[in-house]
Amino acid sequence: MSIDREALIRSLGGEAAVAGMSHEARADALEEFQIAALDATAAARRETEKFPTVAELEAQIDTRATRRGMGKIFRAARNKADPDAPPRVPRLPKMPEKPALFDFFEFRFGSGAHLKQSAALAKRKGCSEEVVLACLLHDLGGFLMKADHGYYGAQLIEPYVSEKVAFAVRYHQALRFYPDADYAYEYPVRYFEAFGVDYVPPPHIEAAYEFARNHRWYEEARLVTTNDLYAFNPGVRIDIDEFREIAGRHFRQPAEGLGFDGSPVAHMWRTLINPDAPL
Ligand SMILES: [Fe+2]
Ligand SMILES: [Fe+2]
Repeated sequence: MSIDREALIRSLGGEAAVAGMSHEARADALEEFQIAALDATAAARRETEKFPTVAELEAQIDTRATRRGMGKIFRAARNKADPDAPPRVPRLPKMPEKPALFDFFEFRFGSGAHLKQSAALAKRKGCSEEVVLACLLHDLGGFLMKADHGYYGAQLIEPYVSEKVAFAVRYHQALRFYPDADYAYEYPVRYFEAFGVDYVPPPHIEAAYEFARNHRWYEEARLVTTNDLYAFNPGVRIDIDEFREIAGRHFRQPAEGLGFDGSPVAHMWRTLINPDAPL
């Protein structure tokens, strides 16, 4: 996103006010400004853009080589240097023998920008460490399987985190479809595009929403959605090290490495380690 420098400086009270700010305060202000700009863009889009219908999206299935619910790690990517070349899957770097959670961030989750931005936003808003961790991990399931990613993601981390963190990850998927004014959470505009402008969530998602809304950990799951919505800013870079201590306290890293601890989900981590295995 390009920055309107003058508007940013005006919003902070002018050049003199900016000169008196610490480096960190300036970085925070820039981030807030970018998020506000992103928000305004989304509102404008809803007014002006034409979104596909459910039927139109369904008709596209016949034209696809892969299914939309396929995990991100299986996806082919275009070569930016050669945009006309057919998309290819990149060769994945080797993982350490006993991989830890952050090794997956380094070697398998690409930039992980969306996850790190969600977690950073939650941290800056003063959310609990468990919510920050839930935000950092909330879309991990999508690397394995985008369809039902909240459920895959919760299952993937369940043996290693508190029940509350797994709950927040599992139910953020259903809660994303339901606004909550108490948390200033609105239906995401990008869902008009992804699901169709006339999409109605199926009964099992509606039931999951009702269940979560009446649960004692509703807030934790809801906070994942509020920090999720605004966390798609390409201009903000967050260092994963910012979350090492929180993960150290709330993610029980198995000594044998993720994928090799004999847990009921070890195979899911192994698939992330080697998605090129033929069987
Ligand atoms: Fe998600
Ligand atoms: Fe997300």
